[in-house]
Amino acid sequence: MTHTAVEIAPSILAADFSRLAEEIRAVELGGAGAVHVDVMDGHFVPNITIGIPVVKSLRQATRLPLDVHLMIEQPEKYLEDFVRAGADRLLIHQEATVHLDRALAMIRELGARAGVAINPATPAAVLSEVLDKVDIVLVMSVNPGFTGQKFIPGAMAKIRQLHEWRARSHASFRIEVDGGVDMDNAAELAQAGANILAVGATIFHAPDATAATREIRKLAAEALKQRV
Ligand code: DX5
Ligand code: ZN
Repeated sequence: MTHTAVEIAPSILAADFSRLAEEIRAVELGGAGAVHVDVMDGHFVPNITIGIPVVKSLRQATRLPLDVHLMIEQPEKYLEDFVRAGADRLLIHQEATVHLDRALAMIRELGARAGVAINPATPAAVLSEVLDKVDIVLVMSVNPGFTGQKFIPGAMAKIRQLHEWRARSHASFRIEVDGGVDMDNAAELAQAGANILAVGATIFHAPDATAATREIRKLAAEALKQRV
């Protein structure tokens, strides 16, 4: 399967929450393709962030797809609420549910795109039975919980592996990478097969979020041209 562009999904966890609508407008101007929303429950990860009411407000603030990353235990309990609130894509962790197949099917039945995320210590091979049932595979390149962490290099090999797997099996899932994505690794990630870059600090801690979005998007797009 050929992919023509790499989508930038700014992660609002790194944004200024008191100016969320403006921050989103800034990345829209820079060509963001989605808004990445990190939901944390204080159990699955050692942090608590935002939930359903904020997703609902974000839905009013942008037309971009909302890429909702659920770092919560037993995500199946809340899937319907998040879709109702306006999530276009729900990304659940393989490690957070014992009924992954059922939870992914539920997301699609609710009319959203189904994504599965794996932590740095989880091998891609655990997904073998669900790769034909997901729209997105999210490779965590940091241990989830916080913005501004350093990229764990092993994620690059995992992306390559998923990319090869996808080509061999003619599957159509997109590969997303999340954590520590920056101007130095964006090109290599695009070449390795990543289709969606979730980017927090590199965009929102930059002096100009619009310019940073534009720049990382360009770096990824140019790298992709070289691959073809
Ligand atoms: C980490 C979150 C990420 C994070 C990305 O648990 O899932 O989306 O906010 O932020 P950066 O790009 O700063 O690592
Ligand atoms: Zn995330």
